[in-house]
Amino acid sequence: MQPILRSIESADVIVYAAPTYIWSFPAPVKAVIDRSVYASCKYYGGDPYGPALMKGKRIAVITTCGYPTERVTDLFEEQMRRYCKHCGPTYAGMLAERQRNLKEAFMDEDKEMRARAFAKTLL
Ligand SMILES: Cc1cc2nc3c(=O)[nH]c(=O)nc-3n(C[C@H](O)[C@H](O)[C@H](O)COP(=O)(O)O)c2cc1C
Repeated sequence: MQPILRSIESADVIVYAAPTYIWSFPAPVKAVIDRSVYASCKYYGGDPYGPALMKGKRIAVITTCGYPTERVTDLFEEQMRRYCKHCGPTYAGMLAERQRNLKEAFMDEDKEMRARAFAKTLL
């Protein structure tokens, strides 16, 4: 976690990119977020708590899923909003893209266009 926490410290925007597992992050990604919660919430920021790791940063999520995206992002985004309210970063939004089945390639021009547009919102 030390190198990851140092990267977070020097970042303006943190993008968590992972497949959706049970309306959330896969366990290894969740473990990183849990540890960074500790790093930020041990010190909420402001007197008398001291510096906060996540305060002033923006957090975004890029995820892939199997269900229609609107049935995934509602719960996923709600937990991100509450997490950001609790820990100090600003929630910058989510890009979710569905893979309908294994017969079609995941990537197409529409997805690429949405990914580029989403990236621009983070700059
Ligand atoms: C354990 C597990 C849980 C999953 N949970 C969800 C889910 O809650 N909602 C959803 O839309 N897709 C779910 N999926 C489908 C994955 O999101 C999908 O397979 C993934 O985005 C494809 O990316 P990958 O090829 O990197 O695995 C789940 C898949 C697995 C293996």
